[in-house]
Amino acid sequence: MSWLYRNTLRPLLFTQDAESIHNRTMGMLNWAGRHKMMCDVMRSFLGAPELPVELFGLRFPNPVGLAAGMDKNAEALPAWAAMGFGFTELGAATWHAQPGNPQPRVFRAIAEEAIVNRMGFNNRGAEAIAEKLAGWKKLNRWPKHPVGMNLGKSKITPLEKAAEDYANSFRVLRPHLDFFVVNVSSPNTPNLRQLQDKKALDEIFSALQEVQRGNARQTPILVKVAPDLTFEALDEILELVQPRNIAGIVATNTTISRPSSQDAAAQRVYSETGGLSGRPLQSRSTEVIRHLYRQAKGTLPIIGVGGIFTAADAWEKITAGASLIQVYTGLVYEGPTICRNIVSGLLDRLEESGKLSWSEVVGCKAKY
Ligand SMILES: Cc1cc2nc3c(=O)[nH]c(=O)nc-3n(C[C@H](O)[C@H](O)[C@H](O)COP(=O)(O)O)c2cc1C
Repeated sequence: MSWLYRNTLRPLLFTQDAESIHNRTMGMLNWAGRHKMMCDVMRSFLGAPELPVELFGLRFPNPVGLAAGMDKNAEALPAWAAMGFGFTELGAATWHAQPGNPQPRVFRAIAEEAIVNRMGFNNRGAEAIAEKLAGWKKLNRWPKHPVGMNLGKSKITPLEKAAEDYANSFRVLRPHLDFFVVNVSSPNTPNLRQLQDKKALDEIFSALQEVQRGNARQTPILVKVAPDLTFEALDEILELVQPRNIAGIVATNTTISRPSSQDAAAQRVYSETGGLSGRPLQSRSTEVIRHLYRQAKGTLPIIGVGGIFTAADAWEKITAGASLIQVYTGLVYEGPTICRNIVSGLLDRLEESGKLSWSEVVGCKAKY
């Protein structure tokens, strides 16, 4: 079925502007999500086999998740589980609602299976998203898999007030979600990536942990890093893991670097300002995962993301140290059967490898 998507539907979709198609698809998935029967039909075609993973005290029906940025406002929440995803990361949500950067702001480099985007955290704001989440619960359409939220900084909030901005969003969204990801790695909010600095990140995590101090339920909070950080800068972030109770790392966000390309259309796309995702990000993101896994000696959960299209790509991330993986650009290029294909392929590889459990596979090619 992914052959069918790549050769019939995708060429049709790709004749239109990337953001318009995205919005139209989200509208359809929102509608489908509200109807149990539609989700059941989707599940029968697209649902993935079980490959359960236990992490953060949560049960993931399979290790393939939806990456942040696809469903910023939780519009299509029930549809992702019906499409076979083992977990969903919504957002980025910011404390203040904001429109993001002017359009056009998403560009496809089709020959290289890549996307450049400079969305700039367009979203309805944490309070409106919290209401949307409550709405899905009220409709009895909450998915049977873990749901997390990616948190960004509002553009109007100065860097010195970033911790308060993240904490405000966390306070209103926390009751609804299973885990959070602090996004300090998007290239599309001015100076945001400076918050990956150890001191700034320490302040943010301290403010977030303060929000949940004394609560019986401690929500796992992860941090998402840029692929452009040096290994030394990544090591500094690792130093915060214990003191600030960081539950894991999402590696990686999009890159500001650009590969060389012979393709004229791709060159034009690469000259756009923004973050690059997809195939050209794949090997750097795996390098970052491998480094983090080795440095933490396998003790820190890593969610691997960046250029995953197939089971082979996912296997590479997992054996480099990722316990879970996510896709964004892969979904755009491979279509809605991507989860089913990846999970089936992972099950085959697990069997071939002769390994008994998931934990034996994670990081098996990243000896430390
Ligand atoms: C259009 C677009 C919007 C994105 N928005 C966000 C976001 O809001 N927060 C975030 O942490 N990452 C965001 N990302 C990054 C993805 O979550 C992911 O880390 C990155 O695209 C690499 O994965 P991929 O190669 O599978 O796309 C966005 C990516 C794209 C293409």
